[in-house]
Amino acid sequence: MKNASIDIQYNTYKEAGELDESDQRLIIEARKLASKAYAPYSGFQVASVAVTSDGAYIHGTNQENASYPIGLCAERVMLAAISSVASDALIKTICISYISEKQAVNQPIAPCGICRQSLVEFESRFKHPIRLLLTGQSGEVFKFNSVSDLLPMAFKKQNLIK
Ligand code: THU
Repeated sequence: MKNASIDIQYNTYKEAGELDESDQRLIIEARKLASKAYAPYSGFQVASVAVTSDGAYIHGTNQENASYPIGLCAERVMLAAISSVASDALIKTICISYISEKQAVNQPIAPCGICRQSLVEFESRFKHPIRLLLTGQSGEVFKFNSVSDLLPMAFKKQNLIK
């Protein structure tokens, strides 16, 4: 028997002002977008914004439904939009932010498991690392150099036996 471990590296910043100008602009975009989410049932509005190498932003917000399980997360709404309208764009960075009606949001949140799997699929498909910024409406920002860092041992296309 051997022990094994996985180490996840990321950077933390006390506030958005510590990042470069293009990251700051993306963070502002995601923080602003959160109020557009349709989340009347949870009161938890999430925004996910991707920036392309040309500086274009592609938006996604969570979309809930009275039939709760069919609600969509912001990240997957955004990925579907990219895949549909800008599939040849190179995605550099994604920023996720949120608003909660129940509490002040000055802490980053990380994407749910299903969205992590979808983000990894997207990164593998385009064979290019996608940086990830996580933040609330203010305060700390976490930066990952690749969305895959958030899902060690991800299940991938190569695992499917043909
Ligand atoms: N949600 C997202 O949009 N992204 C995540 O990664 C986590 C959760 C949404 C789903 C639901 O509409 C609300 O947040 C509360 O779970």
